[in-house]
Amino acid sequence: MKKEKIIRPQPFKIDGSIIFEGDSLHILTRLPSESVQCIVTSPPYWGLRDYGIEGQIGLEESLHQFLNKLVAIFSEVKRVLKPDGVLWLNIGDGYTSGNRGYRAPDKKNPARAMSIRPDTPKGLKPKDLIGIPWRLAFALQEDGWYLRSDIVWNKPNAMPESVKDRPIRAHEYLFMFSKSEKYYYDRDAVKELGANGKLRNRRSVWDVNTQAFPGAHFATFPSSLIEPCILATTRAGDYVLDPFFGSGTVGVVCQVHDRPYIGIELHPKYVAMAAERLTVLHENIIRIAI
Ligand SMILES: C[S@@+](CC[C@H](N)C(=O)[O-])C[C@H]1O[C@@H](n2cnc3c(N)ncnc32)[C@H](O)[C@@H]1O
Repeated sequence: MKKEKIIRPQPFKIDGSIIFEGDSLHILTRLPSESVQCIVTSPPYWGLRDYGIEGQIGLEESLHQFLNKLVAIFSEVKRVLKPDGVLWLNIGDGYTSGNRGYRAPDKKNPARAMSIRPDTPKGLKPKDLIGIPWRLAFALQEDGWYLRSDIVWNKPNAMPESVKDRPIRAHEYLFMFSKSEKYYYDRDAVKELGANGKLRNRRSVWDVNTQAFPGAHFATFPSSLIEPCILATTRAGDYVLDPFFGSGTVGVVCQVHDRPYIGIELHPKYVAMAAERLTVLHENIIRIAI
């Protein structure tokens, strides 16, 4: 069989922190191979929010389409990651809609109100918890990633829910994946205080309050959730990538800890928000049209 040669466009030259405005998969294909040490990111959740922009992720009609799209993106992320690098991935879960086309707004927690509701995935029933984080984790594992840890992000300040027939959801997952069997992990950089007042190796349940960022209509990372990720899996000067940059929290933590960052964000409004927060120079924001 004749082998077709895939011609890639020239990769961008990366020299210091930078924000790309555009579609993450498209821009990832232009980043140099094995150039970043760590990725910390939170893609849009499935069927939760309409960001009102073409090319956005999260509005796929089926769960399979959504998962496939993310696997394709993270496969490109893997190419960009150094062989001893690590990916930290946070993604939220959700319940099936039972094919109801609307959801009554949750007055107590407007941020949780859905603007869209996809159909119930095949094989699931109304009221089923979909299990999106684990479905994605298994799909990435199948695609070659090493799933190294499932961190439970416990939210002590979790918002009330109006449900009466199950416990209130007060956690999310933060998955740690590596590209190879051996990778860079500095356990001393992220030790925690044990009950006896002594430092011990970090455990897999992290208590971190959620933190809203004014003007961002989506869940933003609390800095203290991602700080240990960056400190454990990078050294000063290593590049950190967030392909769903949003308000730029990954950039903020990188700035504090002297790590250069690469942010990719589709929505011009959020690029502007992140740039303002990070005081990024105009020449370090690059807009890439599809
Ligand atoms: C959950 S938010 C990330 C929030 C971020 N961690 C923070 O702390 O602000 C997801 C972001 O992905 C962006 N997004 C959606 N589709 C995208 C795409 N195809 N390429 C790049 N960014 C996209 C959305 O505009 C949104 O800002």
